[in-house]
Formats: sequence, C-alpha cells, structure tokens
Amino acid sequence: MTEMQAALEKIERALRAYLEIPAEGQEAVLEAMRYSVQNGGKRVRPVLTLAFCRAAGGQEEAAVPFACAVEMIHTYSLIHDDLPCMDNDDWRRGKPSCHKRFGEDTALLAGDGLLTLAFRTLTDAPIAPEEICRAVALLSDCAGVRGMIGGQVLDLASESGVPDRALLEKIDRLKTGALIEAACVLGCIAAGVRDAAVLEAARSYAHSVGLAFQIVDDILDVTSTREELGKPVGSDDKNEKITFVRLLGLDGCKTLVLDLTERAQAALSAFPGDTSFLRDFAAELAARRK
Ligand code: IPE
Ligand code: IPE
Ligand code: MG
Ligand code: MG
Ligand code: MG
Repeated sequence: MTEMQAALEKIERALRAYLEIPAEGQEAVLEAMRYSVQNGGKRVRPVLTLAFCRAAGGQEEAAVPFACAVEMIHTYSLIHDDLPCMDNDDWRRGKPSCHKRFGEDTALLAGDGLLTLAFRTLTDAPIAPEEICRAVALLSDCAGVRGMIGGQVLDLASESGVPDRALLEKIDRLKTGALIEAACVLGCIAAGVRDAAVLEAARSYAHSVGLAFQIVDDILDVTSTREELGKPVGSDDKNEKITFVRLLGLDGCKTLVLDLTERAQAALSAFPGDTSFLRDFAAELAARRK
C-alpha cells in the first residue's frame, strides 16, 4: 500500500466513525452530513495534515482528529458554497448537491453541524491540552472571517467586477488558501512543532499550494466536464466571478501554477524531516484533472 493509500484509508475510517452519531429524531441532518462528507472528496486537506505531521517527525495517529476536523470544515464550506444564495450549483462530488438532495433548510443545518462537529473533533487529538488550544485558535482563524469566510464574502462581493490581480490573490488566499494553511500547520502542531522557522515553512508551502489549487480549480471550471469533475463546469462564468483565467488566460494560469508549485517545493527545504511526499503532492495537485 502506498503512503497515500494508507493515509486515505485512515481518514475515511476516522471520518466515518466521527459521523456515527446516534440519532434521536435528527436523522435527516445526520444523513445529510454523511452524504456530503462520505465518498467523492479528494481529501487533499487531511492528506496534507497527516503528511506534515509525518514530515515533522510526529506520529500520524496524533494528527487524524485534526485532519478530520479540517475536512469537516471544508465539506461544510462546499455545502454552503453550492446554495442558491451563493454559487447556486446542483452537483458536488459526483452527486446532487446537499440542498438538491435534502432541501435548503437541511443543507444549511448540515453545514452548521459539520462546522461545530469539527471543533469537537479537534479536542479528540491525543496531545497536550495547550496544543489543542493552539489548534482551536488556528482553525478558527483560518475558517472564520479572517480566513475562509472572509474570502467567500469578497468572492461574492466581487461578482461582475473587473479582475484585479491583488484582489484576486487576496480572495483566493482567503477562501481556499487559509484552510489549506490550517491543514498544513495543524499537522505540525500534532507533531509538537514549536520552531517558528518550521511553522513558517509549512505556512509558506500552504500559501503557494493554496493559491495554485484555486487557480487549477478555476482552470478546470473552464476545461473539464461535469462527469470528470463531479461538479458543474462553467459555474464561474455563470456567476460572473473574477478569476485568474479571466485575468491571465489559460496559458498564463498554467505558468503561474508551475511557478507557485516550485515555490512551495522550495519552502520545504527549511523542513527538518523527509519532505519527498509533500514535494510530489504539490506537483500532483498542479497537474490534477479533478
Ligand atoms: C473545491 O475543493 C473547492 C475549492 C476550495 C477549490 P476540492 O477540489 O478539494 O473539493 P473536494 O474535497 O475534492 O470535493
Ligand atoms: C470555493 O471556491 C471556495 C470555498 C471556500 C468553498 P469555488 O466556488 O470555486 O469552489 P467550487 O468550484 O464550487 O468547488
Ligand atoms: Mg464559490
Ligand atoms: Mg462554488
Ligand atoms: Mg470553482
């Protein structure tokens, strides 16, 4: 089994277990939470959490609750992102979006349920309470108004606007980069890292990979198909989003993604452990087709 397969197996098993919450009348929302979390996601963020924990010399098991927490927040962000009041998209992870399947009310609450369950899940990490406090503060910052939510607000506000490089970078770093930063740094926290230079290296990798990730997402929105992607294509055009594709064109985007990937890989040199998995993963994400 490859390192990747082993990590994915651990993540799937743990996510399933965290969602085994006994129902006492709230079956609908639990079913919606499981429907959106299970099957279909690439698990990029939890894979990063486990990989950073390993590269920092930690025990992967210690990072599994953190990895699941980030995936729960990410999944909730997708459920809400698809709602009619946001991007209004009907497909996600190869299936009808949560609100298409369960209705907007249940989808809204399923997102809220995952957001709150994420913070409960962080507290499960088998590490010192002070380290868990660091994790709570980090994930809250990265997922909240100073991170992902802030990016989503700017993303919606900029619809129908003129693409501007600085604004676009800000939106993408917040709406997508912030949660990827949380994923990487949480792996370091699970490994007990306190060294500022190592934490900065993780952040720097995350910034470049995060921006590249959203640019590839925008490229695929133009070049892929719903069948391959598992979600609608042409969503950005439909919503008149400002994207790097509109600013730089497809070729310009591809060059920028390669440049960012090299920058991410270079940031790893400040890292003490074996970073070959993270180097390769950055390249795989740049070349991804879904
Ligand atoms: C999609 O994220 C939303 C973005 C932030 C670009 P992913 O491409 O990681 O979606 P899943 O988790 O694989 O469904
Ligand atoms: C999503 O950006 C960012 C989130 C925080 C969910 P997109 O709106 O481009 O993501 P997709 O394309 O719907 O997955
Ligand atoms: Mg969106
Ligand atoms: Mg969207
Ligand atoms: Mg998109």
